[in-house]
Amino acid sequence: MSGAEMHGATKDGTTRYAAKFPGAAKGHFRDAHRMIMSSLGMGTYLGQPDAKTDESYTAAAITAAESGINVFDAAINYRFQRSERNLGAALKQLAAKGYARDEFVLCTKGGYLTPDGAMPGDPNDYFFREYIQPGVFTAKDIVAGSHCMTPKFLKNQIGRSLKNLGVSCIDIYYLHNPESQLSEISKDMFLERVREAFTFLESAVEAGEISYYGMATWNGFRQEAGARDAMQLAEIAQIAQEIAGGRHHFRFVQLPFNLGMTEALTLGNQAPPAHIIGAHARTVMEAASDSDISLIASASLLQGQVARNLPGFVAEALGLANDAERALQFVRSSPGITTALVGMSKAAHVHANAKLVNLAPATEEQFTNLFSRGESA
Ligand SMILES: NC(=O)c1ccc[n+]([C@@H]2O[C@H](COP(=O)([O-])OP(=O)(O)OC[C@H]3O[C@@H](n4cnc5c(N)ncnc54)[C@H](OP(=O)(O)O)[C@@H]3O)[C@@H](O)[C@H]2O)c1
Repeated sequence: MSGAEMHGATKDGTTRYAAKFPGAAKGHFRDAHRMIMSSLGMGTYLGQPDAKTDESYTAAAITAAESGINVFDAAINYRFQRSERNLGAALKQLAAKGYARDEFVLCTKGGYLTPDGAMPGDPNDYFFREYIQPGVFTAKDIVAGSHCMTPKFLKNQIGRSLKNLGVSCIDIYYLHNPESQLSEISKDMFLERVREAFTFLESAVEAGEISYYGMATWNGFRQEAGARDAMQLAEIAQIAQEIAGGRHHFRFVQLPFNLGMTEALTLGNQAPPAHIIGAHARTVMEAASDSDISLIASASLLQGQVARNLPGFVAEALGLANDAERALQFVRSSPGITTALVGMSKAAHVHANAKLVNLAPATEEQFTNLFSRGESA
């Protein structure tokens, strides 16, 4: 293996990647924690766990990489590990086409129990053999029958994800929907589990298996502050700070953000910084900026629902050729969003969405217009 293959994304590699797209608009490539990341990223959540979808995802990932998209997002449980393997297959083919490992930002997640490739005839037997018998987890580590974030489990899952992706380092490793544990355990116990997970993840950074870690969430940062599964970003970042000081690697948070779910920008659900007297509650975007954490948007098209039939004022404010472009333009142009993830199992959707690579993000004026027109609509 060459040096480039052995490591993850680097500043040099991702800069080299961006230079391959001289037509990319200013603002398409963004610097986040010494990685140059595209404003659009490819997601791999949806679709059947079958061979046809495998082929389609691998082809779509190659098209994405050849079109100016260098951020790829998976989770070990997506399509029973097949999405990670599809990205791994794409990376191999991309290496043969002259794209090195260090040009891509590979992101994946752990937390949900998943079978291997297909649902086994007897899932209980599968999990007993693979996990309980070898001592990876015990029944008391599992929440809601499906979620776990103990260090032992995460270590096992990172090992599997590295193998699935065919790499030696994952650039961003997320705890997958950690807030789901709050349905069963107390806030104090949750924060203690986060501390144990982060302590392990810092050691995984040290070992070179991951470069950064984060939380990929669904409800946790979109709820009113008092909700049972609401989280405070500053409190979570403080845990990382206590473990590893200012050089900690908790640097990415993923959350849904799209034209139908705008909370990260509009809802003040984060406590104001204690050192600023009289400060107002913060949005997640503000809180992330306070803690030097980059935000990655998931479900940028609201799982396809905002790719069509948008109200006319969106076209008036943003222009562009169609609603899918407008929906993605909204997300990638929002202050504080580094990358807008869009699920694309089909190369045709990659071609369509990659048109934005050569288009500048919306101006502040267009963005403000969108909100003022939205309010009066
Ligand atoms: N909690 C979490 O951690 C979490 C939750 C949700 C999502 N995510 C991440 O975020 C990624 C994006 O979210 P998502 O996949 O759930 O939803 P999404 O990106 O909002 O929508 C994906 C859907 O939109 C379709 N699509 C893509 N481009 C289109 C276009 N130009 N016109 C019309 N339809 C288009 C896709 O079709 P095809 O597949 O047919 O191309 C797919 O069905 C996920 O893949 C995943 O990586 C994370």
